[in-house]
Amino acid sequence: MCGIVGYIGGRSAWPIIVKGLQRLEYRGYDSAGIAVIDDGALRVNKCRGKVADLLNLVRSQPIGGTIGIGHTRWATHGEPNDVNAHPHVSMNGHFVVVHNGIIENYREIKARLAEKGYTFKSQTDTEVLANLIECLYIEQGLTAEQAIKAALRKVIGAYGLGIMCVDESGLLFGARKGSPLAVGVGEGEFFLASDATPIAEHTDKIIYLDDEQVVTLSRDGYYVSNLADDHLDPVISHIDFAVDNIDKGGYEHYMLKEIHEQPNSVADTMRGRVNPQTRTISLGGIADVLPRLVKARRIIIVACGTSYHAGLVGEYLFEQFARVNVEVEYASEFRYRDPIITPDDVIIAVSQSGETADTLAAIRMAKQKGALVLGICNVVGSSIARDTDAGIYTHAGPEIGVASTKAFTAQVTVLTMMAFLLGRKRGALSQERYEQLVESLLRVPDMIGRVLQDEAHIRDVSKAYQLAQNAIYLGRGYLYPVALEGALKLKEISYIHAEGYPAAEMKHGPIALIDNCMPVFVLAAHDMYYDKIVNNIQEVKARKGQVIAIVTRGDSEISKMADYVIEIPECDEALLPLVAVVPLQLISYDVAVMRGCNVDQPRNLAKSVTVE
Ligand code: AGP
Ligand code: GLU
Repeated sequence: MCGIVGYIGGRSAWPIIVKGLQRLEYRGYDSAGIAVIDDGALRVNKCRGKVADLLNLVRSQPIGGTIGIGHTRWATHGEPNDVNAHPHVSMNGHFVVVHNGIIENYREIKARLAEKGYTFKSQTDTEVLANLIECLYIEQGLTAEQAIKAALRKVIGAYGLGIMCVDESGLLFGARKGSPLAVGVGEGEFFLASDATPIAEHTDKIIYLDDEQVVTLSRDGYYVSNLADDHLDPVISHIDFAVDNIDKGGYEHYMLKEIHEQPNSVADTMRGRVNPQTRTISLGGIADVLPRLVKARRIIIVACGTSYHAGLVGEYLFEQFARVNVEVEYASEFRYRDPIITPDDVIIAVSQSGETADTLAAIRMAKQKGALVLGICNVVGSSIARDTDAGIYTHAGPEIGVASTKAFTAQVTVLTMMAFLLGRKRGALSQERYEQLVESLLRVPDMIGRVLQDEAHIRDVSKAYQLAQNAIYLGRGYLYPVALEGALKLKEISYIHAEGYPAAEMKHGPIALIDNCMPVFVLAAHDMYYDKIVNNIQEVKARKGQVIAIVTRGDSEISKMADYVIEIPECDEALLPLVAVVPLQLISYDVAVMRGCNVDQPRNLAKSVTVE
C-alpha cells in the first residue's frame, strides 16, 4: 500500500531516501525503514512509527553509501512493530527487500523454506520472499536478477519491490505486479519510487513499470525485462507537475491547502475542455470512443470511498442530462458479484490514485466481458489510467492529504462535462440549454472562491461541534451524495461517528438518534427539494436536534429555524455538489484540528489502497 524509495548514483543515498519517504508519508503507514550498502557492508535501520522516529534512531550515526532502499509499511501480515518493519534481510544476509502488497501463497513457500532449514524473524510475507530469492540464488547458482525473477515466477499476489543483493552492490532491482512502482531516470543516477512525488525534485523523466516487469538499475543505465526474461523497451514519460505542488505552500496542512486550491483545480480540470467562446465541451481523452459512449445501453460507475460519492453525483447528472441508465457500484462488491455486463455497457472507473485494487480488478473483469472501460483518474500514468480503453485525467494536481477534497471536485467536474456533452450528443439537451449549462459550469471556480471567503464564519460554527460524538448529514437529490461525502470527511479525520442519509430516509430510522446533543448538517440549497427539506429541518428541530444548514445566499426562511447557517452562492442545481461540498470539507478540517487530530495522515488510513 504505502511507499518504496530506492536510489543508486553518485550521491549519498540516505538523505535522498529519507526525503523521498517523507514525500510518500501522505500515503499512510505505520513503520519506516531504510537499508544502504556502504563499502560492501549492509546497514539496516527500521522501526515502528514515523519517518521522524527513524531519523531519531540514527541521528547520532552518519550513514554513507550511494545505493539504498527505503520503505513505509502499512501492515498486512503481522502487527506494526520494529521487527516486522521493512527492509527484510534474507537469512544468510545476501538479499534485502522492501515490499508493498501481499504475497498470497507465502504460507506454502514458508513451509517449504522451513523444511530446508530457513528460519524467520518476522511475521511478514515479505521476509518469506527475501528468503525464497536467496534460496534460489544459492541452490541454483543464479545471478541476483535471475534469482529474483525465478522467485517472482513462484509468487501469487501483489508486489512493488525494491531489492539489493550484497554480493552485487552496484545493482538496484525493482519489480511490480499490482502495487505501483516507477523509475526516475537521472544523469548517472536512478530512483525507484511508488509514485512520482519523491522523484520530481531530481528528474522529470519517469518510467512507470507494468505488471510483472523487473528493472535492473546500475549507475550506467537501466534494463527492463519481464519474468520470461524478454528485454523490454519502456516508455519514458515526463512528470507533469512542479515540485511546489507537493509542498504545503504556507498552509498548516496539505488538506487545507488542497481545499483552498479548488477554485484553481476545478478551472484546471476544465482547461482546454470547456470553451468559453463557443460554449462547448470537447473531451480529447474519450473522443475516439465517443460514438460507443453515445450509444451505450447503460453506464456503470465503479469506485470506492470519496470517488464512489463522486460517482453517485455522476448518476444524477447522466440520468438528468443524457437520459441514460446509470448504476453506481462499490468496486469491491461489483467485482465479486458476477454482474451482468454486455458489450453495449460502458464502465467508468473513478479513482484519484488510479491504483485502488478493487477498482482495478473491477475494470479488468468488465473488460473481459467486452464492455468499453473508461477511467477518470488524477494520477497520470497510474494503473487504472493505463488499463482502461480511454479516459479523462482530472488534472487536480497531486493530492497529498489522505482525505480527498480537490480530487472529489475535479472528479465531479469531469462527470459534469461528460454528462453535458453526452446529453447534447444524444439529443437529450437542446443547444440552448447546453450552452447555458456550460456557462454556469464556467462560473463554478468563482463560486467556490466565494465559499472559501467565509472560512472564518465556518470555523466559528465548527467550534460549537468540536466535542460532538456523533453527527448526521442530510441531503436530497444532487445533495444526497454530498451528505455522504460530508459524513465521510468528518469521520476520516476527526474520528467522530457520522452518517449521511437522503433527508427523507431520516424518519425511517435515524430520527431515533436525534436529541439535543446531535448535530444535523442539512444541505438545504434552493433546488427542487427546498420545501421538502424545510420540513425535514422542522422534524429535527421538533426533537431538539442541532441544525447546521447549508443554504443559498439570502435564504431567510431556514435561518429562522436552524442553529447555524452557512451560505453558498445561488447556482444551477446540477452544479450544487461542487459548491456545497466545500463548507463541509472546511468543517471537518476545523473540527479535526480543534480535536488535535493528525489531519493529513489520519490513523489507520492509507491514501492509496492497493490491497483489496
Ligand atoms: C477519501 O477521503 C478516502 N481517503 C478514500 O475513501 C478514497 O476516496 C478511496 O480509498 C478511493 O481512492 P481512489 O480515489 O484513489 O481510488
Ligand atoms: N505485506 C507486507 C507486510 O505486511 C507489506 C505491507 C505494505 O504494503 O506496506 O509487511
